[in-house]
Amino acid sequence: MNQPLHDTAPDFDQPIAVLKHCHGRIRKQLDTLEKLLAHLPAHGADEQARQAAAAVMKYFDKGAQLHHEDEEQDLIPMLHATATGEDAATLAALAPQILQEHKDMDAMWQDLHEQLSLIADGSGTHLSASTVGRFVQCYRQHMEREEGTMAPMALRIFDTGQMARLGQAMRQRRGISVNNDVSIGNAATASPCEPAAAGIGERVADLRKDYGQASLDEGDVADDPIAQFTRWFEEALKAEVNEPNAMGVSTVGEDGRPSSRIVLVKQFDERGFTWYTNYDSQKGQQLASKPFAALLFFWSELERQVRIEGKVVRTSAEESDKYFNSRPLKSRLSAIASEQSAPIAGRADLERNYEEVARQYGESPSRPSHWGGYRLVPERIEFWQGRRSRFHDRIVYTRSEDGSWTRQRLQP
Ligand SMILES: Cc1cc2nc3c(=O)[nH]c(=O)nc-3n(C[C@H](O)[C@H](O)[C@H](O)COP(=O)(O)O)c2cc1C
Repeated sequence: MNQPLHDTAPDFDQPIAVLKHCHGRIRKQLDTLEKLLAHLPAHGADEQARQAAAAVMKYFDKGAQLHHEDEEQDLIPMLHATATGEDAATLAALAPQILQEHKDMDAMWQDLHEQLSLIADGSGTHLSASTVGRFVQCYRQHMEREEGTMAPMALRIFDTGQMARLGQAMRQRRGISVNNDVSIGNAATASPCEPAAAGIGERVADLRKDYGQASLDEGDVADDPIAQFTRWFEEALKAEVNEPNAMGVSTVGEDGRPSSRIVLVKQFDERGFTWYTNYDSQKGQQLASKPFAALLFFWSELERQVRIEGKVVRTSAEESDKYFNSRPLKSRLSAIASEQSAPIAGRADLERNYEEVARQYGESPSRPSHWGGYRLVPERIEFWQGRRSRFHDRIVYTRSEDGSWTRQRLQP
Protein backbone atom coordinates (compact mmCIF):
# COMPACT_ATOMS: atom_id res chain seq x y z
CA MET A 1 0.00 0.00 0.00
CA ASN A 2 1.47 3.32 -0.98
CA GLN A 3 -1.35 5.74 -0.17
CA PRO A 4 -0.39 9.34 0.74
CA LEU A 5 -1.32 10.19 4.31
CA HIS A 6 -2.79 13.56 3.36
CA ASP A 7 -5.26 14.61 0.70
CA THR A 8 -2.96 15.32 -2.25
CA ALA A 9 -4.12 17.51 -5.11
CA PRO A 10 -4.14 15.97 -8.59
CA ASP A 11 -1.76 17.34 -11.20
CA PHE A 12 -2.70 19.23 -14.36
CA ASP A 13 -2.14 16.11 -16.48
CA GLN A 14 -5.54 15.09 -15.06
CA PRO A 15 -7.46 18.34 -15.64
CA ILE A 16 -10.92 16.92 -14.91
CA ALA A 17 -9.67 15.60 -11.57
CA VAL A 18 -8.26 19.07 -10.87
CA LEU A 19 -11.67 20.65 -11.60
CA LYS A 20 -13.33 18.19 -9.20
CA HIS A 21 -10.67 18.86 -6.60
CA CYS A 22 -11.46 22.57 -6.90
CA HIS A 23 -15.13 21.76 -6.28
CA GLY A 24 -13.95 20.22 -3.01
CA ARG A 25 -12.23 23.51 -2.14
CA ILE A 26 -15.34 25.48 -3.04
CA ARG A 27 -17.48 23.22 -0.84
CA LYS A 28 -15.10 23.81 2.06
CA GLN A 29 -15.36 27.59 1.64
CA LEU A 30 -19.16 27.38 1.41
CA ASP A 31 -19.17 25.47 4.72
CA THR A 32 -16.99 28.20 6.25
CA LEU A 33 -19.37 30.86 4.97
CA GLU A 34 -22.34 29.10 6.62
CA LYS A 35 -20.41 28.69 9.88
CA LEU A 36 -19.49 32.37 9.79
CA LEU A 37 -23.14 33.31 9.37
CA ALA A 38 -23.99 31.30 12.51
CA HIS A 39 -20.97 32.68 14.42
CA LEU A 40 -21.50 36.40 13.85
CA PRO A 41 -24.64 37.08 15.94
CA ALA A 42 -23.04 35.73 19.14
CA HIS A 43 -19.39 36.73 18.61
CA GLY A 44 -19.34 39.67 16.21
CA ALA A 45 -16.27 40.29 14.05
CA ASP A 46 -13.85 38.60 16.46
CA GLU A 47 -10.49 37.18 15.35
CA GLN A 48 -12.04 33.89 14.18
CA ALA A 49 -14.72 35.69 12.18
CA ARG A 50 -12.18 38.03 10.60
CA GLN A 51 -9.97 35.12 9.56
CA ALA A 52 -12.90 33.15 8.16
CA ALA A 53 -14.12 36.15 6.16
CA ALA A 54 -10.62 36.73 4.77
CA ALA A 55 -10.24 33.05 3.79
CA VAL A 56 -13.60 32.93 2.00
CA MET A 57 -12.83 36.20 0.20
CA LYS A 58 -9.41 35.00 -0.86
CA TYR A 59 -10.89 31.89 -2.44
CA PHE A 60 -13.92 33.37 -4.19
CA ASP A 61 -12.09 36.51 -5.37
CA LYS A 62 -9.41 34.52 -7.15
CA GLY A 63 -9.63 30.72 -7.09
CA ALA A 64 -13.31 30.49 -8.00
CA GLN A 65 -12.87 33.03 -10.82
CA LEU A 66 -10.08 30.94 -12.33
CA HIS A 67 -12.28 27.86 -12.09
CA HIS A 68 -15.08 29.63 -14.00
CA GLU A 69 -12.59 30.74 -16.64
CA ASP A 70 -11.33 27.15 -17.04
CA GLU A 71 -14.85 26.09 -17.90
CA GLU A 72 -15.88 29.09 -19.97
CA GLN A 73 -12.72 29.51 -22.01
CA ASP A 74 -11.44 25.95 -22.35
CA LEU A 75 -13.59 23.07 -21.14
CA ILE A 76 -16.93 24.11 -22.65
CA PRO A 77 -15.50 25.28 -26.03
CA MET A 78 -13.52 22.01 -26.27
CA LEU A 79 -16.64 19.98 -25.47
CA HIS A 80 -18.62 21.92 -28.11
CA ALA A 81 -15.88 21.18 -30.66
CA THR A 82 -15.81 17.45 -29.86
CA ALA A 83 -19.28 16.34 -28.78
CA THR A 84 -21.57 14.69 -31.34
CA GLY A 85 -25.08 13.20 -31.33
CA GLU A 86 -26.66 12.90 -27.90
CA ASP A 87 -23.65 14.49 -26.18
CA ALA A 88 -23.94 17.56 -28.44
CA ALA A 89 -27.66 17.86 -27.64
CA THR A 90 -27.04 17.54 -23.88
CA LEU A 91 -24.33 20.17 -24.11
CA ALA A 92 -26.47 22.58 -26.13
CA ALA A 93 -29.01 22.55 -23.28
CA LEU A 94 -26.53 22.50 -20.42
CA ALA A 95 -23.82 25.00 -21.41
CA PRO A 96 -26.04 28.15 -21.46
CA GLN A 97 -27.39 27.19 -18.03
CA ILE A 98 -23.87 26.74 -16.64
CA LEU A 99 -22.76 30.12 -18.03
CA GLN A 100 -25.87 31.87 -16.67
CA GLU A 101 -25.24 30.39 -13.22
CA HIS A 102 -21.68 31.68 -13.28
CA LYS A 103 -23.06 35.19 -13.90
CA ASP A 104 -25.70 34.83 -11.16
CA MET A 105 -23.14 33.57 -8.66
CA ASP A 106 -20.72 36.37 -9.57
CA ALA A 107 -23.46 38.95 -8.87
CA MET A 108 -24.27 37.36 -5.49
CA TRP A 109 -20.56 37.24 -4.70
CA GLN A 110 -20.21 40.99 -5.27
CA ASP A 111 -22.77 41.60 -2.48
CA LEU A 112 -21.12 39.11 -0.17
CA HIS A 113 -17.64 40.43 -0.92
CA GLU A 114 -18.60 43.91 0.32
CA GLN A 115 -20.04 42.55 3.55
CA LEU A 116 -17.15 40.15 4.11
CA SER A 117 -14.47 42.80 3.58
CA LEU A 118 -15.99 44.87 6.42
CA ILE A 119 -16.03 41.78 8.63
CA ALA A 120 -12.44 40.90 7.64
CA ASP A 121 -11.13 44.28 8.79
CA GLY A 122 -13.29 44.20 11.91
CA SER A 123 -15.50 47.16 10.98
CA GLY A 124 -18.73 45.29 10.18
CA THR A 125 -20.78 42.33 11.39
CA HIS A 126 -23.58 42.17 8.82
CA LEU A 127 -23.80 39.12 6.57
CA SER A 128 -27.03 38.65 4.63
CA ALA A 129 -28.50 35.24 5.49
CA SER A 130 -30.63 35.19 2.34
CA THR A 131 -27.70 35.97 0.00
CA VAL A 132 -25.53 33.38 1.74
CA GLY A 133 -28.38 30.84 1.44
CA ARG A 134 -28.93 31.48 -2.29
CA PHE A 135 -25.20 31.57 -3.04
CA VAL A 136 -24.48 28.30 -1.24
CA GLN A 137 -27.46 26.50 -2.74
CA CYS A 138 -26.75 27.72 -6.27
CA TYR A 139 -23.10 26.70 -6.07
CA ARG A 140 -23.83 23.24 -4.66
CA GLN A 141 -26.45 22.44 -7.33
CA HIS A 142 -24.22 23.88 -10.04
CA MET A 143 -21.26 21.68 -9.04
CA GLU A 144 -23.45 18.55 -8.88
CA ARG A 145 -24.71 19.29 -12.38
CA GLU A 146 -21.21 19.66 -13.71
CA GLU A 147 -19.99 16.51 -11.96
CA GLY A 148 -23.01 14.53 -13.18
CA THR A 149 -22.77 15.48 -16.86
CA MET A 150 -19.90 17.65 -18.10
CA ALA A 151 -17.08 15.90 -16.25
CA PRO A 152 -18.01 12.34 -17.30
CA MET A 153 -18.61 13.55 -20.86
CA ALA A 154 -15.14 15.11 -21.05
CA LEU A 155 -13.52 11.96 -19.62
CA ARG A 156 -15.35 9.88 -22.23
CA ILE A 157 -14.81 11.96 -25.37
CA PHE A 158 -11.47 13.80 -24.94
CA ASP A 159 -8.37 12.07 -26.23
CA THR A 160 -4.98 12.31 -24.52
CA GLY A 161 -3.93 15.32 -26.60
CA GLN A 162 -7.07 17.27 -25.67
CA MET A 163 -6.61 16.44 -21.99
CA ALA A 164 -3.02 17.68 -22.20
CA ARG A 165 -4.12 20.93 -23.88
CA LEU A 166 -6.85 21.51 -21.29
CA GLY A 167 -4.39 20.87 -18.43
CA GLN A 168 -1.80 23.16 -20.00
CA ALA A 169 -4.33 26.01 -20.38
CA MET A 170 -5.41 25.65 -16.73
CA ARG A 171 -1.81 25.55 -15.57
CA GLN A 172 -0.93 28.70 -17.51
CA ARG A 173 -3.98 30.52 -16.16
CA ARG A 174 -2.55 30.04 -12.65
CA GLY A 175 1.01 31.00 -13.59
CA ILE A 176 2.32 27.53 -12.72
CA SER A 177 5.14 26.05 -14.83
CA VAL A 178 5.34 22.41 -15.98
CA ASN A 179 7.48 21.25 -13.06
CA ASN A 180 4.91 22.87 -10.74
CA ASP A 181 7.17 25.77 -9.86
CA VAL A 182 5.45 29.07 -9.61
CA SER A 183 6.50 31.07 -12.63
CA ILE A 184 5.33 34.39 -11.22
CA GLY A 185 6.19 35.43 -7.70
CA ASN A 186 8.27 33.32 -5.35
CA ALA A 187 6.06 30.89 -3.46
CA ALA A 188 7.45 27.37 -3.25
CA THR A 189 4.23 25.44 -3.78
CA ALA A 190 1.03 26.07 -5.66
CA SER A 191 -2.47 24.64 -5.29
CA PRO A 192 -3.95 23.74 -8.67
CA CYS A 193 -7.15 25.54 -7.61
CA GLU A 194 -5.58 28.88 -6.86
CA PRO A 195 -3.45 31.34 -8.74
CA ALA A 196 0.27 31.13 -8.11
CA ALA A 197 1.11 33.23 -5.10
CA ALA A 198 1.81 36.77 -6.19
CA GLY A 199 5.22 38.35 -5.65
CA ILE A 200 5.91 39.98 -2.31
CA GLY A 201 5.20 43.36 -3.93
CA GLU A 202 1.55 42.33 -4.32
CA ARG A 203 1.21 40.14 -1.23
CA VAL A 204 2.23 43.08 0.92
CA ALA A 205 -1.37 44.29 0.62
CA ASP A 206 -2.44 41.28 2.70
CA LEU A 207 -0.28 42.30 5.66
CA ARG A 208 -2.79 43.55 8.12
CA LYS A 209 -2.33 44.39 11.78
CA ASP A 210 -5.04 45.74 13.97
CA TYR A 211 -4.00 48.13 16.74
CA GLY A 212 -5.58 48.22 20.15
CA GLN A 213 -2.95 48.58 22.88
CA ALA A 214 -3.88 52.07 24.03
CA SER A 215 -5.93 55.17 23.37
CA LEU A 216 -5.14 58.88 23.33
CA ASP A 217 -7.69 61.30 24.71
CA GLU A 218 -7.60 65.09 24.76
CA GLY A 219 -7.72 64.86 28.55
CA ASP A 220 -4.73 62.50 28.71
CA VAL A 221 -2.23 64.65 26.89
CA ALA A 222 0.03 67.33 28.35
CA ASP A 223 -0.63 71.03 27.58
CA ASP A 224 2.85 71.31 26.17
CA PRO A 225 3.79 69.03 23.24
CA ILE A 226 7.42 68.75 24.33
CA ALA A 227 6.23 67.46 27.70
CA GLN A 228 3.94 65.04 25.84
CA PHE A 229 6.84 63.95 23.59
CA THR A 230 9.05 63.44 26.66
CA ARG A 231 6.35 61.27 28.22
CA TRP A 232 6.03 59.13 25.09
CA PHE A 233 9.81 58.93 24.61
CA GLU A 234 10.22 57.64 28.17
CA GLU A 235 7.51 55.07 27.52
CA ALA A 236 9.31 54.04 24.32
CA LEU A 237 12.53 53.53 26.30
CA LYS A 238 10.68 51.55 28.96
CA ALA A 239 9.04 49.38 26.29
CA GLU A 240 12.51 48.78 24.81
CA VAL A 241 11.38 49.98 21.43
CA ASN A 242 14.03 49.27 18.79
CA GLU A 243 16.04 52.48 18.21
CA PRO A 244 13.48 54.87 19.71
CA ASN A 245 15.75 57.79 18.79
CA ALA A 246 15.73 56.97 15.06
CA MET A 247 13.57 59.40 13.12
CA GLY A 248 12.75 60.08 9.50
CA VAL A 249 13.85 63.51 8.29
CA SER A 250 12.20 64.80 5.13
CA THR A 251 13.54 67.82 3.31
CA VAL A 252 12.84 69.36 -0.08
CA GLY A 253 15.24 70.48 -2.73
CA GLU A 254 15.11 73.65 -4.78
CA ASP A 255 13.06 71.74 -7.34
CA GLY A 256 10.38 71.19 -4.65
CA ARG A 257 10.91 67.41 -4.63
CA PRO A 258 11.02 65.79 -1.18
CA SER A 259 13.57 63.25 0.06
CA SER A 260 13.71 61.33 3.33
CA ARG A 261 16.29 59.51 5.40
CA ILE A 262 16.71 58.23 8.96
CA VAL A 263 18.91 60.08 11.44
CA LEU A 264 19.27 59.86 15.22
CA VAL A 265 17.82 62.58 17.40
CA LYS A 266 20.56 63.64 19.83
CA GLN A 267 18.68 66.18 21.90
CA PHE A 268 15.16 67.51 22.36
CA ASP A 269 13.91 70.31 24.57
CA GLU A 270 11.84 73.50 24.37
CA ARG A 271 14.13 74.78 21.61
CA GLY A 272 13.50 71.84 19.31
CA PHE A 273 14.84 68.52 18.01
CA THR A 274 18.55 68.22 17.18
CA TRP A 275 20.54 65.83 14.99
CA TYR A 276 24.07 65.87 13.61
CA THR A 277 25.25 65.40 10.08
CA ASN A 278 27.35 66.65 7.21
CA TYR A 279 26.35 70.17 6.09
CA ASP A 280 27.46 69.37 2.51
CA SER A 281 25.33 66.23 2.26
CA GLN A 282 22.17 66.10 0.15
CA LYS A 283 20.02 67.03 3.15
CA GLY A 284 22.50 69.78 4.04
CA GLN A 285 22.24 71.29 0.57
CA GLN A 286 18.47 71.05 0.60
CA LEU A 287 18.24 72.69 4.01
CA ALA A 288 20.54 75.48 2.82
CA SER A 289 18.03 76.44 0.16
CA LYS A 290 14.79 75.40 1.92
CA PRO A 291 15.25 75.47 5.71
CA PHE A 292 12.16 73.42 6.61
CA ALA A 293 11.80 69.75 7.45
CA ALA A 294 9.39 67.11 8.71
CA LEU A 295 10.47 64.57 11.33
CA LEU A 296 8.82 61.22 11.88
CA PHE A 297 9.08 58.78 14.75
CA PHE A 298 7.39 55.37 14.45
CA TRP A 299 7.35 53.31 17.63
CA SER A 300 5.76 50.20 16.24
CA GLU A 301 5.88 48.24 19.52
CA LEU A 302 3.63 50.91 21.09
CA GLU A 303 1.56 51.46 17.91
CA ARG A 304 2.57 55.13 18.00
CA GLN A 305 3.73 57.72 15.51
CA VAL A 306 4.86 61.30 16.11
CA ARG A 307 5.08 63.83 13.27
CA ILE A 308 6.94 67.08 13.77
CA GLU A 309 7.22 69.96 11.30
CA GLY A 310 9.00 73.28 11.42
CA LYS A 311 11.89 75.49 10.48
CA VAL A 312 15.46 74.17 10.68
CA VAL A 313 18.44 76.11 12.02
CA ARG A 314 22.07 75.11 12.56
CA THR A 315 23.18 74.53 16.14
CA SER A 316 25.87 76.91 17.39
CA ALA A 317 29.52 76.03 16.73
CA GLU A 318 30.05 75.49 20.48
CA GLU A 319 27.15 73.07 20.67
CA SER A 320 28.37 71.14 17.61
CA ASP A 321 31.92 71.03 19.02
CA LYS A 322 30.65 69.71 22.31
CA TYR A 323 28.73 66.90 20.68
CA PHE A 324 31.52 66.13 18.16
CA ASN A 325 34.06 65.81 20.96
CA SER A 326 31.78 63.45 22.88
CA ARG A 327 31.79 60.93 20.00
CA PRO A 328 34.11 57.88 19.86
CA LEU A 329 37.38 58.58 18.02
CA LYS A 330 36.53 56.36 15.03
CA SER A 331 33.20 58.14 14.52
CA ARG A 332 34.97 61.51 14.59
CA LEU A 333 37.54 60.32 12.03
CA SER A 334 34.74 58.87 9.85
CA ALA A 335 32.93 62.21 9.88
CA ILE A 336 36.11 63.88 8.59
CA ALA A 337 36.92 61.16 6.04
CA SER A 338 33.46 60.92 4.45
CA GLU A 339 32.16 63.46 1.95
CA GLN A 340 28.65 62.33 2.82
CA SER A 341 26.35 61.80 -0.19
CA ALA A 342 29.13 62.26 -2.79
CA PRO A 343 29.80 59.29 -5.13
CA ILE A 344 33.00 57.23 -4.67
CA ALA A 345 34.50 54.50 -6.87
CA GLY A 346 34.58 51.75 -4.23
CA ARG A 347 34.80 50.74 -0.58
CA ALA A 348 38.60 50.51 -0.85
CA ASP A 349 38.85 54.24 -1.65
CA LEU A 350 36.71 55.03 1.36
CA GLU A 351 38.93 52.93 3.64
CA ARG A 352 42.03 54.61 2.15
CA ASN A 353 40.59 58.06 2.91
CA TYR A 354 39.90 56.99 6.48
CA GLU A 355 43.44 55.68 7.01
CA GLU A 356 44.85 58.93 5.65
CA VAL A 357 42.66 61.03 7.96
CA ALA A 358 43.58 58.83 10.94
CA ARG A 359 47.31 59.32 10.16
CA GLN A 360 46.88 63.06 9.68
CA TYR A 361 44.64 63.89 12.67
CA GLY A 362 45.85 61.38 15.26
CA GLU A 363 44.01 61.04 18.58
CA SER A 364 42.30 64.42 18.87
CA PRO A 365 40.74 65.51 15.61
CA SER A 366 38.73 68.69 15.80
CA ARG A 367 35.31 69.12 14.22
CA PRO A 368 35.48 69.99 10.53
CA SER A 369 33.41 73.03 9.58
CA HIS A 370 31.24 70.97 7.21
CA TRP A 371 29.92 68.81 10.06
CA GLY A 372 27.53 69.88 12.80
CA GLY A 373 24.03 69.97 14.17
CA TYR A 374 20.62 70.98 12.90
CA ARG A 375 17.74 71.87 15.16
CA LEU A 376 14.15 71.71 13.96
CA VAL A 377 12.10 74.35 15.74
CA PRO A 378 8.62 72.78 15.87
CA GLU A 379 5.49 74.54 14.65
CA ARG A 380 3.29 71.46 14.48
CA ILE A 381 3.51 68.19 16.44
CA GLU A 382 1.05 65.37 15.97
CA PHE A 383 0.68 62.37 18.27
CA TRP A 384 -0.91 59.28 16.69
CA GLN A 385 -2.08 56.24 18.59
CA GLY A 386 -3.24 53.19 16.61
CA ARG A 387 -6.75 51.97 17.45
CA ARG A 388 -8.94 49.07 16.38
CA SER A 389 -10.15 48.91 12.77
CA ARG A 390 -8.12 51.90 11.60
CA PHE A 391 -10.15 54.25 13.82
CA HIS A 392 -7.04 55.82 15.28
CA ASP A 393 -6.53 58.70 17.73
CA ARG A 394 -4.72 61.81 16.48
CA ILE A 395 -3.99 64.89 18.55
CA VAL A 396 -2.15 67.72 16.85
CA TYR A 397 -0.49 70.72 18.55
CA THR A 398 -0.01 73.93 16.57
CA ARG A 399 2.17 76.81 17.71
CA SER A 400 0.68 80.32 17.60
CA GLU A 401 2.55 83.56 16.87
CA ASP A 402 3.00 84.21 20.59
CA GLY A 403 4.65 80.83 21.08
CA SER A 404 1.69 79.23 22.87
CA TRP A 405 0.31 75.87 21.72
CA THR A 406 -3.24 74.94 20.79
CA ARG A 407 -4.34 71.36 20.32
CA GLN A 408 -6.95 69.68 18.24
CA ARG A 409 -8.21 66.17 17.47
CA LEU A 410 -7.95 65.06 13.86
CA GLN A 411 -9.97 62.37 12.13
CA PRO A 412 -8.07 59.15 11.50
C1 LIG B 1 19.32 54.08 12.09
C2 LIG B 1 20.05 55.10 11.26
C3 LIG B 1 20.60 56.19 11.89
C4 LIG B 1 21.27 57.17 11.16
N1 LIG B 1 21.73 58.26 11.79
C5 LIG B 1 22.31 59.26 11.08
C6 LIG B 1 22.68 60.48 11.70
O1 LIG B 1 22.48 60.68 12.90
N2 LIG B 1 23.26 61.42 10.91
C7 LIG B 1 23.47 61.26 9.59
O2 LIG B 1 24.01 62.14 8.94
N3 LIG B 1 23.08 60.12 8.95
C8 LIG B 1 22.50 59.13 9.66
N4 LIG B 1 22.09 57.99 9.04
C9 LIG B 1 22.32 57.87 7.58
C10 LIG B 1 21.26 58.64 6.82
O3 LIG B 1 20.05 57.88 6.75
C11 LIG B 1 21.66 59.00 5.39
O4 LIG B 1 22.10 57.87 4.70
C12 LIG B 1 22.76 60.05 5.37
O5 LIG B 1 22.57 61.04 6.34
C13 LIG B 1 22.84 60.71 3.98
O6 LIG B 1 21.62 61.32 3.68
P1 LIG B 1 21.46 62.43 2.53
O7 LIG B 1 22.27 61.95 1.35
O8 LIG B 1 20.02 62.50 2.24
O9 LIG B 1 22.01 63.70 3.09
C14 LIG B 1 21.41 57.01 9.75
C15 LIG B 1 20.82 55.92 9.13
C16 LIG B 1 20.16 54.99 9.87
C17 LIG B 1 19.49 53.83 9.17
